Formats: sequence, C-alpha cells, structure tokens
Amino acid sequence: MYGLIHRYLKDHIIDSAGEDVWRSIATELRISPADLISQEVYDDTLTFELVEVASRRLGRSVDDCLTAFGRFWVLRVSQDTYRAVMDFTGRDLVTFLGNLDRMHHSVAAVMTKARLPSFTLIEQKSDHLLVQYRSERTGLEPFVLGLLEGLLEWFSIKGEVQHLNSENNAAEFLIKLH
Ligand code: HEM
Repeated sequence: MYGLIHRYLKDHIIDSAGEDVWRSIATELRISPADLISQEVYDDTLTFELVEVASRRLGRSVDDCLTAFGRFWVLRVSQDTYRAVMDFTGRDLVTFLGNLDRMHHSVAAVMTKARLPSFTLIEQKSDHLLVQYRSERTGLEPFVLGLLEGLLEWFSIKGEVQHLNSENNAAEFLIKLH
C-alpha cells in the first residue's frame, strides 16, 4: 500500500500509545522514514506486519486494531489535507457512499499504483443501509467496519455497523440507523 497509509498508522499508534511505543515498533520492523513516504508504494506485508506488531504491543486483537485504525483514518483525513476531498465526496452519508468509488478513482489519477476498493450501496431504508465492499485484498473487513463507524461519527449519525458476510472478495455491511 501507499506510504500514506503507513504514515497514518504511525500517527494512530502515537496517538493511542505514545512516541516510545512507535519507536520500539519501528525498530522491531526496521521501519525507517524511507518506508513512510506518502507517494511511494510498499509491499502489503509491511502494512499487515505493522498492524500485527502494534496489536501485540497494545494488547489488542488485530481486528480491534484495524477497526480502531479505520475510525481514526476517517476522522483524521477529514481534518487534514483531505478535508476538501471528504467534503467534495458528499455532505451526507448516502451521497458520500454513492461517490466513494469516484473519489477513490480520482485518488488513483495521482496514485496510479493504488489497488483501490469498491463500495456499492445496495439497499437504502429509513432504518438501515446495506453496503457492499469489494477488494482484491482479504482480511480488511474489520478496517472497513471502523471506516464506516468513522463515517457515522463524521456525519453525526447515531447508529451501528455490522459485518454480515464475506464471499469471493466481497463483503456486506449493515448500517443500522437509530
Ligand atoms: C479523502 C479520503 C480518502 C483518501 C484520500 C483515500 C485514499 C486511499 C488510498 C491511497 C488507499 C491505498 C490503496 C493502495 O495503496 O493500494 C486507500 C485504501 C482504502 N480505502 Fe480509501 N481513501 C479515503 C477515504 C476512504 C473512505 C471514507 C473509505 C470507506 C468508507 C475508504 C476505504 C478504503 C479501503 C477499505 C482501503 C483498503 C484497500 C482495499 O480494500 O483493498 N477510503 N484509500
């Protein structure tokens, strides 16, 4: 994945556990600043190792770490450089989900090696939304759960997100609206 993701992972680890923990994780994985260049692509192994070592150091499961990182990602990018991109993608959750693929495509115009996911809103009712996530990667469902929870918070919506099922690189998520 692009180093951009690793930079945010680093920020998340520092936010939740402090600089010292980050430094010891970076030492264990031999991560140097050269592995954190936003516009460079690094092997996914590094991303998954980073999450795995962080989970061990923080005493939390890998799934919990991925979910926490998903929430962090949405809430942090929406305050950072990508605030305008978030606003442009949609001012409400349904519009945002409908435009998410277009937004990722525009990211791919500059980050040409990105292997981006695809999201489809497959059902929209007053009390719930059903979202399909497709990716060539596996194991990122807990991350997506956190991303969707982060979006609820970003749009000040009370609700909860459930991962319903995964099959053939596609997973369904239920967003219950309270
Ligand atoms: C301005 C906001 C965002 C930007 C700039 C952005 C950009 C990116 C980039 C660069 C990657 C890495 C792809 C790679 O290196 O191969 C990525 C991955 C991903 N993004 Fe986004 N993204 C944003 C918001 C979101 C949101 C709001 C969601 C979902 C609700 C989302 C879902 C994902 C997922 C699930 C991945 C992992 C890749 C995979 O599933 O294969 N992103 N994004």
